[in-house]
Amino acid sequence: MKKHLLFLGPPGAGKGTQAALLSEANSYLHLSTGELLRKEIDLDTDLGKQVKDIMNKGELVNDQLVLEIVKKNLDKYNKGWILDGYPRNLSQVNSLSNVLRDINQPLEIVFYLDIEDEVLIERLLMRGRKDDNEETIKTRLKIYKETTEPLIEHYKSLSLLENINADGDLKTIAAEIKQKMA
Ligand code: AP5
Repeated sequence: MKKHLLFLGPPGAGKGTQAALLSEANSYLHLSTGELLRKEIDLDTDLGKQVKDIMNKGELVNDQLVLEIVKKNLDKYNKGWILDGYPRNLSQVNSLSNVLRDINQPLEIVFYLDIEDEVLIERLLMRGRKDDNEETIKTRLKIYKETTEPLIEHYKSLSLLENINADGDLKTIAAEIKQKMA
């Protein structure tokens, strides 16, 4: 069973949903950089104040800042972990690879949740999080296509990528992921 996983895909693909299911079933750490940043905003911390406007616009938070959050959380856990929303650009890929080398826990599988824009836009508008409005979704998708999508080829070249059709029933998607993890 694989223990060090990453979920990659556009906003609304279901990364958070599937990562939560899997982490609960296996007692793995679910490390969502988006969730951790939103918590900082809710608590009105200095970090939260710094990132609030950026996140509300759908832009990416500074790489160094996100790296600190990842480092702080990753090295505490040994049983297994699932990265959700990190890395999002090639610089973050390199930083992650250094962190994982330091803690001697190499990435074992990258699930790419593949889905059409129309489906995810509909999902996000229905959810209605603060950054789920038409304008912000457009920005998030543009940034995803420009900076995050190239990571698919990167992880494919390392033979870590597994394609998942993310347009379907939650349980069917979860079952496919489970089967590929074995
Ligand atoms: P983040 O929280 O990571 O948001 P995101 O990538 O835009 O992803 P979402 O949470 O919108 O989608 P998801 O794929 O997790 O889908 P979900 O399961 O929630 O990041 C937010 C912001 O934080 C960024 O814009 C940036 O500012 C900052 N940030 C975060 N990480 C960063 C980083 N590494 N570097 C820099 N900045 C960073 O599902 C979406 C909806 O669909 C839900 O309502 C769900 O119930 C529903 N759904 C899920 N699966 C299905 C299904 N199979 N069928 C029907 N509905 C479904």
